[in-house]
Amino acid sequence: MTSIHITFLEEVAEVGRASRRGALARVALYIALVTAWIATSGSLYMSEVLGWVPCLWCWYQRVAMYPLACVIALGLLARDRNLPQYMLGLAVPGILASTYHILLQKVPFFARFESCRVGVPCSVDYLNWLGFITIPMLAWAAFAIIMVAAVLALRAREEDFLAEGLLPGLSPAFSVVVLVAAVVAMFALSGALNARQHSSPSSALSTPDAAMSQTLPPAGTSSEAARIYNESCIGCHGPAGPGTAYIRDEFLRSKSDLALLSFMRAGRAANAPDNFSGMAMPANGGRIGLSDAQVLALIRYLREARGLQPPAP
Ligand code: HEC
Repeated sequence: MTSIHITFLEEVAEVGRASRRGALARVALYIALVTAWIATSGSLYMSEVLGWVPCLWCWYQRVAMYPLACVIALGLLARDRNLPQYMLGLAVPGILASTYHILLQKVPFFARFESCRVGVPCSVDYLNWLGFITIPMLAWAAFAIIMVAAVLALRAREEDFLAEGLLPGLSPAFSVVVLVAAVVAMFALSGALNARQHSSPSSALSTPDAAMSQTLPPAGTSSEAARIYNESCIGCHGPAGPGTAYIRDEFLRSKSDLALLSFMRAGRAANAPDNFSGMAMPANGGRIGLSDAQVLALIRYLREARGLQPPAP
C-alpha cells in the first residue's frame, strides 16, 4: 500500500518536473525567436539605415542568422519537434564564424589571415561599446542564446511543449506574430526616425553653389562632416586624424578640392594602377547620395584632422 503511494507521489513529482522542463524549453524557444529577429533586424538597420558596409565575415554570420529568424518562427508555428536540431544546424556554424571574426578583430596574430582583400576590412570595428563590444560579439551572444534554447528544447523532447504559445492560453501563431511584429516595428520605427532626422535641411551643406565654386562651405558644417565620416568612412579608415588608415597625407596635400571631389566620386579599384593597399575604395566611400558640398566638407574635415593645408591654387 505505502509503496503504491510512494510511486504515485513520485509520478506526480515527475510530471511536475516534466512540465517545468517543457515550460522552460518553450519560453527559451520564444527568447531565441526574439533574439534571432533582433539580430536580423539590427544587422539590416546597421547596413541599410546607418550605411555600414558589411564585411565578408559579417556576411557569413548573416547567412546563418537570417534563416534562423525564419526557421524558428516556422518551427514554432508548425509545432515541429525537430526545431532544436534545425536551430543547432545553423547556430553552430554561425557561432564559429563569430568566434573567428572576434579573433580577427581582437588578436593581432589572426589579423594576418584576414581574407577580405576587396571591400571592407574584417578587422575594423564599426561599433565599440564600452571600448570592447563589437558587432561579431553581439552576434556571438545571439548564437549562444539560440544554442542554449535548442539544447533546453532537446532535453524536453518527450514533452508536448510546443502546443501552447509563449504564455499558457496563447496560441503559438499569436505569440510568434506579436513578437516578430514588435521587433520589426521597433527597428522600422527607429529607421524612419533616423531618416527623417537626416533629411531635414541642414544649412550650408546642401547648397550646390558653394560646392561647385572652389570655396568650401562655411564653418559650422564640420560636425555634419564628422557625423558622415563616423557613419560611413570610419569602418575602413579608422578615426580621422594622424593615424587614419589608407589615406596618405601627401594625397590630401597635393590634390585640389575638385581633384579630391572627383576621386571620391569615382573611388579606386583594387587593381587600379595607383592603388597602394590592394583594397578597393568604393565610389563615394560606399555612401549613396552624398552631395558635392558634403564630400567637400568631408575633405576639409580630413585635412583639418591632420592639420594639412590644401595646395595653393
Ligand atoms: C569599404 C572600405 C572603405 C570605405 C567605406 C571608405 N574607404 Fe576610402 N579608401 C579605402 C581604401 C582601401 C583606400 C585605399 C585605396 C588604395 O590603396 O589606393 C581608400 C582611399 C581613400 C582616399 C585616398 C587616400 C590616398 O592616399 O590615396 C580618400 C581621400 C578616402 N579613401 C576617403 C574616404 C571617405 C571620405 C570615405 C567615407 C565617405 C571613405 N573613404 C570610405 C576604403 C574605404
